[in-house]
Amino acid sequence: MAARERIYLDHAATSWPKAPGVVEAVCAYLRDNGAPAGRGAYSESLDVERRLQRLRLDVARLIEAPDSRRVIFTFNGTDSLNLALHGLLRPGDHVVTTEAEHNSVLRPLAWLAAHRGVIVERAACDEVGRVDVDQVRRMIRPGHTRLVALVQASNVTGVVQPVAEIAQLARAAGADFLLDAAQSLGQWPVSVSELPISLLAAPGHKSLGGPLGTGLLYVAPGLETRLESTRQGGTGTRSEDDHQPDELPERYEAGNLNVPGLIGLGAAVAEFTAATVAATRQHHRDLTQRAIAGLAGVRGVRLFVPPAPQQQVGVLSLTVDGYDPQEVAATLDAVFHIQVRAGLHCAAGIHRAIGSLAMGGTVRLSWGQQTTTEMVDAAVAAISEVATSV
Ligand SMILES: Cc1ncc(COP(=O)(O)O)c(C=O)c1O
Repeated sequence: MAARERIYLDHAATSWPKAPGVVEAVCAYLRDNGAPAGRGAYSESLDVERRLQRLRLDVARLIEAPDSRRVIFTFNGTDSLNLALHGLLRPGDHVVTTEAEHNSVLRPLAWLAAHRGVIVERAACDEVGRVDVDQVRRMIRPGHTRLVALVQASNVTGVVQPVAEIAQLARAAGADFLLDAAQSLGQWPVSVSELPISLLAAPGHKSLGGPLGTGLLYVAPGLETRLESTRQGGTGTRSEDDHQPDELPERYEAGNLNVPGLIGLGAAVAEFTAATVAATRQHHRDLTQRAIAGLAGVRGVRLFVPPAPQQQVGVLSLTVDGYDPQEVAATLDAVFHIQVRAGLHCAAGIHRAIGSLAMGGTVRLSWGQQTTTEMVDAAVAAISEVATSV
């Protein structure tokens, strides 16, 4: 019997397959170059340095950052968020965040609350995970709140948050604004020059299409005077100085970078323009609407979707009556070779709000650039079969 085609619908965890150009760039670097960045005057090292500069410029262009040196390379979205939160917050600081956040925001904040006396308040979200702006407004203390931290799009329901409104509230109160763009960068527009975004954190391995082990943090002009480095070490510059250099990006990039991963990310992002983001957004919207239409009438299937399709990235959560989400995911893989994620997706707060915590969370389907309508139809048919077989 021929093996079933693998249908990978877990792009919200990490995108796969990577584009052929990405795979080729990583392989070619490992095979033919292998040099570190910023540490040698020989041609291969200089070549790597040039390519990383190119990547910084491409990311800066994508997010409309004023200066590519403000794009810091990290190792994943969590690493970027840890640098932002641990680097910025001081004992006694007040932070407003939300129930829709990922543990990569909530856990560093919980640690800072327990060990550094940071005060954290979380605004509620509604039954699809959309944050209550009025509650955020009430929680922000003008002149006192240090930071407002918000996810741009939920990794559970895909709902896109009212980022502009909340960023403006933060600015009006004199607070910094941290945007977690893990589920949006590459499939939803974001501009750090249009909105008052102090810090933007994102992985390179999700919608941007780079390899695992890549991430980035944008640091707004002036913020580097308040954002401490959280790791110190070699930068290949000012080696006579015991202290971490103040220059960007070296201030935050101690130790060798993940050059193979960043070379792959460079190949992925080189092709990215605003038009790519718009096309990806439309592609995801079409797939989401197709899946919703296919599953809407199926007995026992409950969908957690925002009322307006224009408020959702390519992430769709559902439950199936009579089944634990883990059972559904295991059956989809074992019987249909369809790979999805089940559980709380590292974001318990939003499950509390949407009513799926007691059921063990949701089954999550998420799309990538290479997801086809046939793959979505296969998932709809398989889920329908599971639901109606109870
Ligand atoms: C909303 C959100 N924030 C942060 C992260 C953490 O990103 P990473 O897995 O690259 O550490 C994720 C990952 O799933 C996420 O969905």
